[in-house]
Order: sequence, then C-alpha cells, then structure tokens
Amino acid sequence: MQNTDNLNKQFSIPGHIDFAEGPGGLTIARINNGLATAEIALQGAHLYSWQPRGAAPVIWLSQDARFDAGKAIRGGVPVCWPWFGFHEEDLKKPAHGFVRTIAWAVTATEALDDGRTSIRFTLTSNDHTLAIWPHAFRLNYTVTIGQKLDLQLITENTGSTPFKISEAFHTYFTIGDIDGIEIHGLAGYTYADKADDMTLKMEPGPILIRNEVDHIYLDTDGTCRIEDRVQQRHINISTQGSHTTVVWNPWVEKSIKMGDMGENGYRTMVCVESANALNNKVTVEPGRHHELMARYEVA
Ligand code: BG6
Repeated sequence: MQNTDNLNKQFSIPGHIDFAEGPGGLTIARINNGLATAEIALQGAHLYSWQPRGAAPVIWLSQDARFDAGKAIRGGVPVCWPWFGFHEEDLKKPAHGFVRTIAWAVTATEALDDGRTSIRFTLTSNDHTLAIWPHAFRLNYTVTIGQKLDLQLITENTGSTPFKISEAFHTYFTIGDIDGIEIHGLAGYTYADKADDMTLKMEPGPILIRNEVDHIYLDTDGTCRIEDRVQQRHINISTQGSHTTVVWNPWVEKSIKMGDMGENGYRTMVCVESANALNNKVTVEPGRHHELMARYEVA
C-alpha cells in the first residue's frame, strides 16, 4: 500500500497533482491545474469529482456516499471489471467485479505540454484476485484531466490461456433535473431491459427518464450526448473499444433500497456507462491486450 508521503515524493507535480488523506481516511490524488480540478481515490482508482474551469461539476457524487475501505463509492466513475453486473455463475461474488473496491498502485503522473495532467494506476493479479477470478492480468488505467476528461483502461492477459471479460466505466453524471434531460445517440439500437427481465427492445428515439431505467444497449458505437435544459449544457460522450452503452437511473424505490443515494439524489444524476457486456464481452488472448477508452466533454 502506498502512503501519501511516498506518493508525494515520487509522483506529485506542483501546479498539477498531489496526494492526501481524503474522506473516510482513503488516500486520494488531487488534481488542480489551469484547466480543471479532480479527485480520485486510490481505492478502485475511483474518480469522484471533475470540474473543468468555468463549468459546473460534471461528475455526480451522492451526498450520502460512503468512503470506507472495501466499499464501493456511490457516484463518480466506478471501474467495473472483469464482469459487469452480477457474476453469471456465482451471485456471492461482488456485483460489477472486484477492482472498484481494492487499492490500485499509482505508477506514473505527467504534466502534459497542453496543461493537462495525467495519472496512471496499475493493478496486477495476485493471490487475492486469483481466489476470486482465476486469471493472470495487468490493468493500466490512465486518467487525463483537462477541459475534457479522458479515461483509458488497458487489460493485458499475462497468463497462458485466453480469458473473457465484461467491463464498464460506470459514470454518474450530474444533471440539473431528471425531467430536464434527453439522451441522444442511442435511437435505433436494441437494448436488454434489466428492469423488465432482460427483455430485448428497440429504442425509438431520444431517451427521457420518468421511472427506473436500466437499459443495456448492444452493439453501439459508444457516442452519445446528454442534453440538459436546466444547466443549459450538453455532455458529449465518445468512446473507443466500447460496444455496449448502459443508461441507468434507479428512480425512487430502488434509491430507497440502496440507502446511499441521498434524498432525491436520483433527480440530479444519470449513469451513462461505456461498457462491453452481454454479447459484447471481450476475449483477450495470452500476451495480448484490449483497450477501453472514453472521453467526456461539456458543450
Ligand atoms: C448499473 C446496473 O450499471 O449499476 C444496475 O445496470 C445497478 O442494475 C447499478 O443497480 C448500480 O450497481 P451497484 O452495484 O453500484 O449498486
């Protein structure tokens, strides 16, 4: 486990990034450059805020989010890997995989010429991960913070047999109000409706959210847009290496059951997740790698 003193000695860059003890005693990276601010917990390599200069916060964090060792943070960008949702054979295994709740190592930081800051997190298979998922891997996750936010997750198969993964950047976006948004870019795609027994349906037009929505859109090109009338802005999402897009809002009842969504939290968030899941799972051959990338931009 890296401590903040060592992290600061090795990886802090004045005017860009330093490390501190954050909420709940978790170690966090704080990025503060000329273009934006952001905070990322080393546990889960979990970014939980990003605010470009001159713009309102883009990433939603529940007012009741728990920052506890080994617990998933409600909001931000949970990294779901090597499975998305429930484990298909063993419901006792953690939902959305195991990397969002374990500590990643910081392995590089960089101040880019254009003023952005990047930080790379690495997670390598070990006895703990092998007991949950029996494959050797290395993950390199690079987050680049500027007026745009860039996420790049590289999955490397360091073992001797192929493995299959599903994955997601499970991003919670801040919106003015759930009644005031439309999500564009997914019309015409087929989705599995998780709130309706995984029934396959076709999306007829822009998405309006008026009840629980848990849609897994298949074979997408990963480009979409949240249009927010209240905040008078768009959030543009583009991806590479992602063929599934998930749109999720738990609405009232599920939020109450979840217990950490905050009062009326569901009204100011929507998850638009850049993923590979269901029939878009990815096989990674030994010695090969796979990249999942997403870019967010406010317009
Ligand atoms: C979404 C799923 O991606 O994540 C939902 O489609 C799920 O079904 C949601 O409820 C939140 O998951 P968790 O494990 O963070 O509570």
